[in-house]
Amino acid sequence: MKNFRYNTQTAMFFGRGCVKENAAFFKGYGDRAVIFTSKFYEGYPNKGLADVEEAFKSQGIDYLVLDGVEPDPPVETVARLSKEAAAYNADFFIAIGGGSSIDTMKGAALLIKHSDISDPYEVFYGMGAPSHSIKTEVDMPIFAVPTTAGTGAEVTGFACLTRNDTHTKLSMYPVAFCDAAFLDSNYIKGSPDFLIHTGVMDALAHGVETYLHNDSNPLNRALAEYGFRLFASFKDRMRDGCLTDEDYETMILTSYVQGMAFMQSSTTIPHGMGYPLSHIKHVNHGLSCAIFLGEYVMGFKDQSLVQPIVEMCGFKDSADFAAFCRQFTEDDVSIEVSEEEIQQWTDDFMKLDFRLASNPEPLEREDIERLYRNSLRRYIK
Ligand SMILES: [Fe+2]
Repeated sequence: MKNFRYNTQTAMFFGRGCVKENAAFFKGYGDRAVIFTSKFYEGYPNKGLADVEEAFKSQGIDYLVLDGVEPDPPVETVARLSKEAAAYNADFFIAIGGGSSIDTMKGAALLIKHSDISDPYEVFYGMGAPSHSIKTEVDMPIFAVPTTAGTGAEVTGFACLTRNDTHTKLSMYPVAFCDAAFLDSNYIKGSPDFLIHTGVMDALAHGVETYLHNDSNPLNRALAEYGFRLFASFKDRMRDGCLTDEDYETMILTSYVQGMAFMQSSTTIPHGMGYPLSHIKHVNHGLSCAIFLGEYVMGFKDQSLVQPIVEMCGFKDSADFAAFCRQFTEDDVSIEVSEEEIQQWTDDFMKLDFRLASNPEPLEREDIERLYRNSLRRYIK
């Protein structure tokens, strides 16, 4: 067996009502908190925020709600919210929402630690590559209450931010782990369908990509396999729009499990290919990855590498798997892509040596171009 590293640093509370049930837990971390969240869609209440507020009130914890988190959080927004949070002088932070809220909180806590550095880009991207460190760079306790089931941001050390200096989305270099995560499926249930779909497809992509990654190991592949089987248990009811309460619980656990898996060896090709779609076309992150996931799996020359995955996910073969992915992206994504963009994105992707090196089969420029072209064929004008 080859040498490998396994690393996780986040405690986890699981189950409906787990925030209120563990209200006293927070008191152990202080009596002033900042809550990072976003404004939810009209008609969709922020149930996680209501529970956290109730828990804090029951414990006499004062708090400030910062609800200005933006999707694909820009560095500048994180810096602004960090200043507002710093002025409150909190003992700990908690994020309620999807990956954007959790990543914003991680970034804000990191900026507070490095308040002597005025340029946030220097803090996020000037201190070396994340894979060189497993030590969380954030000093203050931070907690996460995910209200989407996909990113795994509650358990990974990554925080993906939008860089306006280079017009890209990039994980910040220092790692930042939450001290604890609270997984309550009640916050997922009742979300808009596209948010459910994008989350599930993101988690699926995390599992598939990390399982195939050249640096995967026996432990994170075992986690990914568990995640595939969890996914298989609810995928048909997701497609048919008849998810049960138990399915939502399985869904949030799947996201967490695939988060644990992919933080060991990262993501690979579909995530890398999906960034221009989310950054330039504003396609939701999980769907951006899912657009490429099916073609990526189908494109393996040695199908014996991917056949175990698609079977664990409950599919006959990679074509069956790809058809499932396509169904959700076709329903939920409406964009136009030009031939020039295909060429530009292919050129840009070929500069990502670490992604190309992560794939078990060598990929040339023509392979990436074909993946872009096949995956986006219905959108090319
Ligand atoms: Fe992702």
